[in-house]
Amino acid sequence: MGPIDKPLPTLQNIHRDEADKIIQAIIEDGACIIKSFASVGAVERVNADTHPYLEVDKPWKGDLFPPETRRCTRLIARSATAREWLVDPLVTKLLSIFVDKTTHNYYGETRHTYTSNAILNTGLTMRIGPGGKAQRLHRDDKNFHMEHPDQTKTGYKIGTDVELSFLVPGIATTPENGATLVIPGSHLWDSERIPKVEEAGYGIMDVGDCFVMLGGFYHAGGHNLTKDQYRPVHDLSFIRGYLRQEENAYLSFTKEEVLSWPFEVKMRMGYTVSSPNLGFVDFIQPYKYLAGDYDPNQPGDLDSSQELNKAA
Ligand SMILES: [Fe+2]
Repeated sequence: MGPIDKPLPTLQNIHRDEADKIIQAIIEDGACIIKSFASVGAVERVNADTHPYLEVDKPWKGDLFPPETRRCTRLIARSATAREWLVDPLVTKLLSIFVDKTTHNYYGETRHTYTSNAILNTGLTMRIGPGGKAQRLHRDDKNFHMEHPDQTKTGYKIGTDVELSFLVPGIATTPENGATLVIPGSHLWDSERIPKVEEAGYGIMDVGDCFVMLGGFYHAGGHNLTKDQYRPVHDLSFIRGYLRQEENAYLSFTKEEVLSWPFEVKMRMGYTVSSPNLGFVDFIQPYKYLAGDYDPNQPGDLDSSQELNKAA
């Protein structure tokens, strides 16, 4: 029960075979738990694929995650099973509804219609160890500077969000081991409404379940109160495919060319992180990554404030 003696809010739990109900739950609540998204064996394979990288990572120093967090970036290259999830037909279906964008335009008098397909935004594993404190409630799409209208009276207009995330826990999640705090319906809130912990419930999941949420959904990784449970979460988040540069700066230039440029040129070409958090490599600023001044097995720590677009 909640602090004012009413039940904590919960997410709808829907089997992966019922795609239409999942879509409806996301429209209503902004998120839902997909039951039997993956087999237990598949989750165990991704756990095993990421375990060596999690073991060598060092404590997080910033305030995005507690220091008990360990990270495995580059999940798509490191796990064949994660690559299967990336193109899972249910994932593709949900992306086509909530993230892919189709518009038309006139080029002269000819009408053209184009669809920009969703692309992966982050594919990584985060493991929260015993004692890890809860995150603050947040919307992941803050990184894209989204401004949300109040839709509490009108209902959700599909297309409002540019991001959809799929989180697959490596172990069963409970309030004790840090199940994600969730506020069903918070995707409808405008940008000024302050999320309160008292409004949140828990996203409790079995192994094989998947938590899917819109970018505008308020959530937070929970407090791991256990002494011995390490809670990995495999994260695939997707964004609109057009959230990138028209000319691909990252493939167009050699490392030597980029390193020869003044900092301001590197910044304008996209080799610094867009505040907050966009464009990192292993949580390292891309221009520092190119300089090679880091250990590839030791992800960095983005400047936790990033409130000035300056060298971190
Ligand atoms: Fe988040």
